[in-house]
Amino acid sequence: MVETTISVIKADIGSLAGHVVVPDFLMELARKRLKEGVQKGIIKDYYVANAGDDLELIMTHHKGEDNEEIHQLAWDIFNEGAKLGREKKIYAAGQDILSDTFSGNVRGMGPGSAEMTIEERKSEPIAIFMADKTEPGAFNYPVFRMFADPFNTAGLVIDPNLHQGFIFVIQDIKQSTPHFVEMRCPEEMYDLLALLGSTSRYTIKKVYRKDGLVAAAVSTDKLHQIAGKYIGKDDPVAIIRAHSGLPAMGEVLEAFALPHMVAGWMRGSHIGPLMPVGLKDSRCTRFDGPPRVVGLGFQVHDGLLLGPVDFFEDVAFDSTRQRAMEVADYLRRHGPFMPHRLDEESMEYTTLPSVLTKFEKRFSDQEIVPTGKTTDTSDSAE
Ligand code: F6R
Ligand code: MG
Ligand code: MG
Repeated sequence: MVETTISVIKADIGSLAGHVVVPDFLMELARKRLKEGVQKGIIKDYYVANAGDDLELIMTHHKGEDNEEIHQLAWDIFNEGAKLGREKKIYAAGQDILSDTFSGNVRGMGPGSAEMTIEERKSEPIAIFMADKTEPGAFNYPVFRMFADPFNTAGLVIDPNLHQGFIFVIQDIKQSTPHFVEMRCPEEMYDLLALLGSTSRYTIKKVYRKDGLVAAAVSTDKLHQIAGKYIGKDDPVAIIRAHSGLPAMGEVLEAFALPHMVAGWMRGSHIGPLMPVGLKDSRCTRFDGPPRVVGLGFQVHDGLLLGPVDFFEDVAFDSTRQRAMEVADYLRRHGPFMPHRLDEESMEYTTLPSVLTKFEKRFSDQEIVPTGKTTDTSDSAE
Protein backbone atom coordinates (compact mmCIF):
# COMPACT_ATOMS: atom_id res chain seq x y z
CA MET A 1 0.00 0.00 0.00
CA VAL A 2 1.25 3.52 -0.89
CA GLU A 3 2.04 5.57 2.16
CA THR A 4 1.05 9.22 2.40
CA THR A 5 3.20 11.80 4.16
CA ILE A 6 1.70 14.93 5.66
CA SER A 7 4.30 17.70 5.97
CA VAL A 8 3.47 20.95 7.71
CA ILE A 9 6.35 23.38 7.24
CA LYS A 10 6.07 26.94 8.54
CA ALA A 11 8.03 30.11 8.95
CA ASP A 12 7.61 33.73 9.93
CA ILE A 13 9.05 35.49 6.90
CA GLY A 14 7.52 38.87 7.67
CA SER A 15 4.17 40.28 8.58
CA LEU A 16 1.80 43.17 8.32
CA ALA A 17 1.82 46.14 10.67
CA GLY A 18 4.22 44.53 13.14
CA HIS A 19 4.21 40.84 14.11
CA VAL A 20 0.47 40.60 13.50
CA VAL A 21 -0.60 38.77 10.37
CA VAL A 22 0.82 37.24 7.17
CA PRO A 23 0.05 39.61 4.28
CA ASP A 24 -2.15 38.32 1.44
CA PHE A 25 0.58 38.57 -1.16
CA LEU A 26 2.65 35.98 0.73
CA MET A 27 -0.32 33.62 1.02
CA GLU A 28 -0.95 34.01 -2.72
CA LEU A 29 2.69 33.40 -3.56
CA ALA A 30 2.67 30.21 -1.46
CA ARG A 31 -0.52 28.95 -3.13
CA LYS A 32 0.91 29.63 -6.58
CA ARG A 33 4.19 27.85 -5.91
CA LEU A 34 2.51 24.88 -4.24
CA LYS A 35 0.10 24.56 -7.16
CA GLU A 36 3.14 24.37 -9.44
CA GLY A 37 4.54 21.79 -7.03
CA VAL A 38 1.45 19.65 -7.66
CA GLN A 39 1.73 20.14 -11.44
CA LYS A 40 5.39 19.08 -11.35
CA GLY A 41 4.50 16.00 -9.30
CA ILE A 42 6.51 17.09 -6.24
CA ILE A 43 3.51 17.14 -3.91
CA LYS A 44 0.07 15.63 -4.17
CA ASP A 45 -2.01 18.35 -2.52
CA TYR A 46 -1.66 21.43 -0.30
CA TYR A 47 -3.39 24.03 1.81
CA VAL A 48 -1.97 27.41 2.82
CA ALA A 49 -2.96 29.03 6.11
CA ASN A 50 -1.61 31.51 8.61
CA ALA A 51 -1.21 31.37 12.36
CA GLY A 52 -0.82 35.07 13.09
CA ASP A 53 2.48 36.06 11.51
CA ASP A 54 3.45 32.51 10.56
CA LEU A 55 3.00 31.23 7.00
CA GLU A 56 1.86 27.60 7.17
CA LEU A 57 2.37 25.20 4.25
CA ILE A 58 0.31 22.04 4.67
CA MET A 59 1.44 19.52 2.06
CA THR A 60 0.72 15.89 1.21
CA HIS A 61 2.93 13.65 -0.90
CA HIS A 62 4.31 10.13 -1.21
CA LYS A 63 7.98 10.94 -0.70
CA GLY A 64 8.34 10.29 3.04
CA GLU A 65 9.56 12.51 5.87
CA ASP A 66 12.67 14.69 5.63
CA ASN A 67 12.47 14.54 1.85
CA GLU A 68 14.83 16.99 0.19
CA GLU A 69 12.50 17.92 -2.67
CA ILE A 70 9.65 18.73 -0.27
CA HIS A 71 11.83 20.75 2.07
CA GLN A 72 13.41 22.55 -0.87
CA LEU A 73 9.96 23.51 -2.16
CA ALA A 74 9.09 25.07 1.22
CA TRP A 75 12.51 26.69 1.56
CA ASP A 76 12.26 28.29 -1.88
CA ILE A 77 8.80 29.69 -1.08
CA PHE A 78 10.06 31.17 2.19
CA ASN A 79 13.07 32.71 0.47
CA GLU A 80 11.10 34.12 -2.43
CA GLY A 81 8.51 35.44 0.04
CA ALA A 82 11.20 37.03 2.19
CA LYS A 83 12.70 38.77 -0.85
CA LEU A 84 9.31 40.10 -1.89
CA GLY A 85 8.62 41.06 1.72
CA ARG A 86 11.87 43.03 1.93
CA GLU A 87 10.95 44.90 -1.23
CA LYS A 88 7.63 45.87 0.29
CA LYS A 89 9.34 46.57 3.62
CA ILE A 90 6.90 44.39 5.58
CA TYR A 91 7.86 43.94 9.19
CA ALA A 92 10.67 41.49 10.08
CA ALA A 93 10.90 40.24 6.49
CA GLY A 94 12.93 37.04 6.36
CA GLN A 95 12.92 36.65 10.15
CA ASP A 96 13.04 32.84 10.27
CA ILE A 97 15.53 32.35 7.46
CA LEU A 98 18.76 31.75 9.29
CA SER A 99 20.96 30.47 6.51
CA ASP A 100 21.88 31.56 3.00
CA THR A 101 22.30 28.04 1.73
CA PHE A 102 19.95 25.08 1.78
CA SER A 103 21.41 21.86 3.13
CA GLY A 104 18.71 19.39 2.20
CA ASN A 105 16.31 19.93 5.09
CA VAL A 106 14.70 22.96 6.73
CA ARG A 107 15.44 21.58 10.19
CA GLY A 108 17.94 23.75 12.02
CA MET A 109 17.63 26.48 9.40
CA GLY A 110 14.83 28.53 10.94
CA PRO A 111 11.47 27.20 9.72
CA GLY A 112 9.54 24.70 11.86
CA SER A 113 8.15 21.38 10.67
CA ALA A 114 5.96 18.48 11.74
CA GLU A 115 5.73 15.46 9.48
CA MET A 116 3.88 12.18 9.66
CA THR A 117 3.84 9.20 7.29
CA ILE A 118 0.68 7.12 7.34
CA GLU A 119 -0.92 4.16 5.72
CA GLU A 120 -4.31 5.68 5.03
CA ARG A 121 -7.06 3.92 6.95
CA LYS A 122 -10.50 3.25 5.50
CA SER A 123 -11.23 6.87 6.41
CA GLU A 124 -8.52 9.26 7.57
CA PRO A 125 -9.67 12.30 9.57
CA ILE A 126 -6.79 14.52 10.71
CA ALA A 127 -6.40 17.82 12.54
CA ILE A 128 -3.61 20.32 12.04
CA PHE A 129 -3.01 22.73 14.91
CA MET A 130 -0.92 25.84 14.35
CA ALA A 131 -0.02 28.24 17.16
CA ASP A 132 1.42 31.74 17.26
CA LYS A 133 3.34 33.61 19.99
CA THR A 134 4.32 30.52 21.90
CA GLU A 135 6.72 27.55 21.90
CA PRO A 136 6.60 23.80 21.09
CA GLY A 137 5.97 22.86 24.75
CA ALA A 138 2.59 24.62 24.43
CA PHE A 139 1.28 21.38 22.88
CA ASN A 140 2.37 19.19 25.83
CA TYR A 141 -0.79 19.85 27.81
CA PRO A 142 -3.42 19.32 25.09
CA VAL A 143 -1.66 16.35 23.45
CA PHE A 144 -1.24 14.67 26.83
CA ARG A 145 -4.92 15.20 27.51
CA MET A 146 -5.97 13.78 24.13
CA PHE A 147 -3.98 10.58 24.44
CA ALA A 148 -3.63 10.00 28.17
CA ASP A 149 -6.27 11.76 30.23
CA PRO A 150 -9.49 9.76 30.74
CA PHE A 151 -11.22 12.92 31.99
CA ASN A 152 -10.67 14.39 28.52
CA THR A 153 -10.85 11.33 26.32
CA ALA A 154 -13.73 9.08 27.26
CA GLY A 155 -12.52 6.47 24.76
CA LEU A 156 -9.50 5.65 26.94
CA VAL A 157 -11.98 4.13 29.38
CA ILE A 158 -14.87 2.95 27.24
CA ASP A 159 -13.44 2.11 23.81
CA PRO A 160 -11.63 -1.26 23.80
CA ASN A 161 -9.45 0.01 20.90
CA LEU A 162 -7.98 2.84 23.00
CA HIS A 163 -7.97 1.13 26.35
CA GLN A 164 -4.35 -0.06 26.18
CA GLY A 165 -3.04 3.51 25.91
CA PHE A 166 -0.30 5.18 23.88
CA ILE A 167 3.46 5.63 23.61
CA PHE A 168 4.88 9.15 23.82
CA VAL A 169 8.20 10.07 22.25
CA ILE A 170 9.62 13.05 24.11
CA GLN A 171 12.46 15.29 23.01
CA ASP A 172 14.78 17.16 25.34
CA ILE A 173 15.09 20.33 23.28
CA LYS A 174 17.73 21.87 25.53
CA GLN A 175 20.34 19.38 24.27
CA SER A 176 22.51 20.45 21.37
CA THR A 177 22.25 17.01 19.76
CA PRO A 178 19.00 15.01 19.27
CA HIS A 179 17.84 13.52 22.55
CA PHE A 180 14.69 11.40 22.70
CA VAL A 181 13.01 9.13 25.22
CA GLU A 182 9.97 6.88 24.84
CA MET A 183 7.41 6.56 27.63
CA ARG A 184 4.37 4.34 27.81
CA CYS A 185 1.03 5.43 29.10
CA PRO A 186 -0.79 4.70 31.38
CA GLU A 187 2.02 2.52 32.89
CA GLU A 188 4.54 5.37 33.13
CA MET A 189 2.09 8.26 33.35
CA TYR A 190 3.62 9.90 36.41
CA ASP A 191 7.12 9.75 34.90
CA LEU A 192 5.73 11.14 31.67
CA LEU A 193 4.07 14.04 33.48
CA ALA A 194 7.25 14.77 35.42
CA LEU A 195 8.87 15.56 32.08
CA LEU A 196 5.96 17.07 30.18
CA GLY A 197 5.28 19.60 32.94
CA SER A 198 8.66 21.16 32.11
CA THR A 199 7.32 22.68 28.93
CA SER A 200 10.38 24.74 28.08
CA ARG A 201 12.61 21.68 28.03
CA TYR A 202 10.71 18.48 27.21
CA THR A 203 8.32 18.44 24.29
CA ILE A 204 6.22 15.74 22.69
CA LYS A 205 7.69 14.79 19.32
CA LYS A 206 5.36 11.93 18.37
CA VAL A 207 2.61 9.75 19.84
CA TYR A 208 2.09 6.14 18.75
CA ARG A 209 -0.54 3.54 19.47
CA LYS A 210 0.92 0.50 21.18
CA ASP A 211 0.74 -1.45 17.88
CA GLY A 212 3.03 1.15 16.29
CA LEU A 213 0.42 3.23 14.45
CA VAL A 214 1.52 6.87 14.47
CA ALA A 215 -1.11 9.16 16.00
CA ALA A 216 0.50 12.59 16.50
CA ALA A 217 3.50 14.62 15.37
CA VAL A 218 4.62 17.98 16.78
CA SER A 219 7.29 20.41 15.59
CA THR A 220 10.05 20.68 18.16
CA ASP A 221 12.23 23.35 16.62
CA LYS A 222 13.60 25.88 19.09
CA LEU A 223 14.42 28.90 17.00
CA HIS A 224 16.42 30.90 19.48
CA GLN A 225 18.57 27.88 20.23
CA ILE A 226 19.29 27.36 16.56
CA ALA A 227 20.27 31.00 16.15
CA GLY A 228 22.15 31.18 19.45
CA LYS A 229 20.22 34.32 20.31
CA TYR A 230 16.62 35.38 20.26
CA ILE A 231 15.36 36.01 16.77
CA GLY A 232 11.66 35.25 17.07
CA LYS A 233 9.41 32.59 18.46
CA ASP A 234 9.35 28.91 17.67
CA ASP A 235 5.61 28.94 17.08
CA PRO A 236 4.71 25.25 16.85
CA VAL A 237 2.51 23.03 14.68
CA ALA A 238 0.99 19.61 15.33
CA ILE A 239 -0.63 16.90 13.20
CA ILE A 240 -3.15 14.64 14.95
CA ARG A 241 -5.04 11.63 13.55
CA ALA A 242 -8.48 10.88 14.95
CA HIS A 243 -11.05 8.07 15.25
CA SER A 244 -10.99 4.30 14.62
CA GLY A 245 -8.76 3.27 17.49
CA LEU A 246 -7.62 6.84 18.22
CA PRO A 247 -9.32 9.66 20.14
CA ALA A 248 -12.47 10.94 18.40
CA MET A 249 -12.13 14.39 16.80
CA GLY A 250 -14.32 15.79 19.56
CA GLU A 251 -11.91 14.40 22.15
CA VAL A 252 -8.97 15.87 20.28
CA LEU A 253 -10.66 19.29 20.29
CA GLU A 254 -11.88 19.03 23.88
CA ALA A 255 -8.22 19.21 24.92
CA PHE A 256 -8.24 22.90 23.90
CA ALA A 257 -11.34 23.83 25.92
CA LEU A 258 -9.15 25.17 28.72
CA PRO A 259 -7.04 28.15 27.64
CA HIS A 260 -3.97 26.81 29.45
CA MET A 261 -0.94 28.94 30.22
CA VAL A 262 1.90 28.97 27.73
CA ALA A 263 5.18 30.84 27.42
CA GLY A 264 5.60 33.41 24.66
CA TRP A 265 3.30 36.37 24.09
CA MET A 266 4.98 39.80 24.11
CA ARG A 267 8.68 39.57 23.22
CA GLY A 268 8.65 35.83 23.87
CA SER A 269 8.99 36.67 27.54
CA HIS A 270 5.54 36.31 29.10
CA ILE A 271 3.05 33.72 30.28
CA GLY A 272 -0.41 33.89 28.76
CA PRO A 273 -3.47 31.79 27.95
CA LEU A 274 -3.51 29.85 24.66
CA MET A 275 -6.69 31.04 22.95
CA PRO A 276 -8.24 28.80 20.27
CA VAL A 277 -9.56 30.88 17.33
CA GLY A 278 -10.94 30.48 13.84
CA LEU A 279 -8.81 31.55 10.87
CA LYS A 280 -10.61 34.90 10.69
CA ASP A 281 -9.23 35.72 14.16
CA SER A 282 -5.77 34.36 13.49
CA ARG A 283 -3.95 37.61 14.18
CA CYS A 284 -2.16 38.57 17.37
CA THR A 285 -3.01 42.05 18.57
CA ARG A 286 -3.38 42.71 22.29
CA PHE A 287 0.10 42.85 23.82
CA ASP A 288 1.00 40.84 20.67
CA GLY A 289 -1.45 38.16 21.62
CA PRO A 290 -2.79 36.53 23.55
CA PRO A 291 -1.06 33.43 22.15
CA ARG A 292 -3.42 31.75 19.70
CA VAL A 293 -4.02 28.40 18.11
CA VAL A 294 -5.98 27.59 14.96
CA GLY A 295 -7.16 24.08 14.17
CA LEU A 296 -8.03 22.79 10.69
CA GLY A 297 -9.64 19.44 9.96
CA PHE A 298 -9.16 17.43 6.76
CA GLN A 299 -10.01 14.03 5.38
CA VAL A 300 -6.99 12.53 3.65
CA HIS A 301 -7.78 10.26 0.72
CA ASP A 302 -5.21 8.88 -1.70
CA GLY A 303 -2.86 11.66 -0.71
CA LEU A 304 -5.46 14.36 -1.33
CA LEU A 305 -6.84 16.76 1.26
CA LEU A 306 -10.58 17.23 1.58
CA GLY A 307 -11.42 20.27 3.68
CA PRO A 308 -10.66 22.18 5.76
CA VAL A 309 -13.08 22.52 8.62
CA ASP A 310 -12.15 25.57 10.69
CA PHE A 311 -12.68 23.88 14.06
CA PHE A 312 -12.30 26.73 16.51
CA GLU A 313 -14.56 29.06 14.59
CA ASP A 314 -17.36 27.16 16.30
CA VAL A 315 -19.37 28.95 18.99
CA ALA A 316 -18.64 26.02 21.29
CA PHE A 317 -15.26 27.69 21.90
CA ASP A 318 -16.71 31.11 22.74
CA SER A 319 -16.58 30.47 26.48
CA THR A 320 -12.95 29.32 26.18
CA ARG A 321 -12.11 32.58 24.44
CA GLN A 322 -14.03 34.58 27.02
CA ARG A 323 -12.12 32.88 29.80
CA ALA A 324 -8.83 33.42 27.96
CA MET A 325 -9.52 37.15 27.79
CA GLU A 326 -10.38 37.30 31.49
CA VAL A 327 -7.13 35.50 32.29
CA ALA A 328 -5.32 37.92 29.96
CA ASP A 329 -6.78 40.91 31.82
CA TYR A 330 -5.76 39.47 35.15
CA LEU A 331 -2.23 38.61 34.06
CA ARG A 332 -1.60 41.92 32.32
CA ARG A 333 -2.12 43.76 35.57
CA HIS A 334 1.07 42.13 36.85
CA GLY A 335 3.07 44.13 34.31
CA PRO A 336 6.77 43.30 34.63
CA PHE A 337 6.31 40.97 37.59
CA MET A 338 6.69 37.22 37.54
CA PRO A 339 4.99 34.91 36.88
CA HIS A 340 3.42 37.00 34.09
CA ARG A 341 6.92 37.88 32.98
CA LEU A 342 8.95 34.70 32.52
CA ASP A 343 11.89 33.83 34.75
CA GLU A 344 15.35 35.00 33.73
CA GLU A 345 16.36 31.82 31.94
CA SER A 346 13.24 31.56 29.83
CA MET A 347 13.03 35.18 28.73
CA GLU A 348 13.95 35.85 25.17
CA TYR A 349 14.63 39.55 25.71
CA THR A 350 16.37 40.74 28.83
CA THR A 351 18.11 43.84 30.06
CA LEU A 352 19.10 42.21 33.33
CA PRO A 353 22.79 41.57 32.43
CA SER A 354 23.26 45.25 31.54
CA VAL A 355 21.40 46.39 34.66
CA LEU A 356 23.65 44.14 36.76
CA THR A 357 26.79 45.43 35.03
CA LYS A 358 25.71 49.00 35.69
CA PHE A 359 25.19 48.31 39.38
CA GLU A 360 28.06 45.84 39.84
CA LYS A 361 30.18 48.18 41.95
CA ARG A 362 27.27 49.19 44.13
CA PHE A 363 26.61 45.69 45.42
CA SER A 364 28.03 45.20 48.91
CA ASP A 365 28.55 42.33 51.34
CA GLN A 366 27.13 44.58 54.07
CA GLU A 367 23.57 45.69 54.33
CA ILE A 368 23.51 49.22 52.97
CA VAL A 369 22.01 52.05 55.02
CA PRO A 370 21.36 54.97 52.68
CA THR A 371 23.07 58.18 53.84
CA GLY A 372 20.35 60.44 52.62
CA LYS A 373 22.66 61.95 50.02
CA THR A 374 21.54 62.04 46.44
CA THR A 375 22.66 58.84 44.76
CA ASP A 376 25.51 59.44 42.34
CA THR A 377 26.14 56.53 40.02
CA SER A 378 29.63 57.73 39.02
CA ASP A 379 32.60 56.00 40.70
CA SER A 380 34.14 59.28 41.91
CA ALA A 381 31.21 60.09 44.17
CA GLU A 382 32.31 60.98 47.73
C1 F6R B 1 7.85 38.23 17.64
C2 F6R B 1 6.77 38.60 18.51
C3 F6R B 1 6.63 39.92 19.16
C4 F6R B 1 7.89 40.71 19.26
C5 F6R B 1 7.60 42.13 19.72
C6 F6R B 1 8.81 43.01 19.60
O1 F6R B 1 7.57 37.00 17.01
O2 F6R B 1 5.95 37.81 18.68
O3 F6R B 1 6.02 39.84 20.44
O4 F6R B 1 8.80 40.09 20.10
O5 F6R B 1 6.57 42.70 18.96
O6 F6R B 1 9.21 43.00 18.28
P1 F6R B 1 10.55 43.66 17.75
O7 F6R B 1 11.67 43.15 18.59
O8 F6R B 1 10.61 43.21 16.32
O9 F6R B 1 10.34 45.14 17.88
MG1 MG C 1 7.02 37.98 13.49
MG1 MG D 1 4.76 33.94 15.00
